[in-house]
Amino acid sequence: MVFPTDENVIVGLDRADDAGVYRISDDLALIQTVDFFTPIVDDPYWFGQIAAANALSDVYAMGGTPKTAMNLVGFPIKSMDIGILRQIIQGGVDKLTEASTVLIGGHSIEDKELKYGLSVTGFVHPARVLTKKNLQAGDQLILTKPLGTGIINTAIKGGLASDELIDTVTRLMATLNRDAAEVMMNFPVHACTDVTGFGLLGHLAEMVAGSGLGVHIQANRVPILKEALEYAAMGLIPAGMYKNRKFREYMVDFSTSVDILIQDVLFDPQTSGGLLICVAQDSSKDLLYRLKEKGILWAEIIGEVRTEPKEKIKII
Ligand code: CO
Ligand code: CO
Ligand code: CO
Repeated sequence: MVFPTDENVIVGLDRADDAGVYRISDDLALIQTVDFFTPIVDDPYWFGQIAAANALSDVYAMGGTPKTAMNLVGFPIKSMDIGILRQIIQGGVDKLTEASTVLIGGHSIEDKELKYGLSVTGFVHPARVLTKKNLQAGDQLILTKPLGTGIINTAIKGGLASDELIDTVTRLMATLNRDAAEVMMNFPVHACTDVTGFGLLGHLAEMVAGSGLGVHIQANRVPILKEALEYAAMGLIPAGMYKNRKFREYMVDFSTSVDILIQDVLFDPQTSGGLLICVAQDSSKDLLYRLKEKGILWAEIIGEVRTEPKEKIKII
């Protein structure tokens, strides 16, 4: 299919990236993104916060600052109490307020299944757009949130998770990627994305594809919620993990020392996951230090870009 375009499209549909980017002038470009989904936690207020944090994240991943947002709502008005929708929207509004982003509109329809999300518009300097491309040999990869939320959400749905774990994971998904993005802007970052439905390795594969380079990941450095490994051992694995693995395993080379449960977590679909930042080698320790100083305690350097294996990911 041929999509309409013009000379001001900086990032468009011809490539898979976190958001579209459109130049308005020499020093201003618009970032536009939209995301919505069915509830992933029981509490409507927290669901609203997570949906907003998730929608805002794609603007941060592009190196931008979110400015405006619009609600997208599908609601079963005949069978569900409207008070639930109010709590969801309140959660979204509170998260937008935290992100200094204004809600300026929206649209709702009647739907059999509850759905909520937002479209978000942000600003970025056209020369400072971060995409999934532009990896350079020697670059270090930093992940800012731990993996395992897909597996743990499966355990929550099965009634197996403790209230304490539900609280931890809910807060993690509702945490904005804003602070990580603000810190990253002061460093020579070459590429960035956020880890969501395709899992760490799915999103990494998108970065590696077409780069002519390879990525080495040290499995024992990847931040992982330890309960995710316990539940994975019990077989509580979301269908999305198997899809992600099937889709990308031809690009991934696991060394025999990498436990199968860790492999599962590396493909686990995330909701509102962390930023995956590709930064110049000599700045990586400094960037990690600043991230931790800002309270992003889960952040770790998880691997690096090398010339080999070409367009593949090696996990050791
Ligand atoms: Co994204
Ligand atoms: Co998205
Ligand atoms: Co990006």
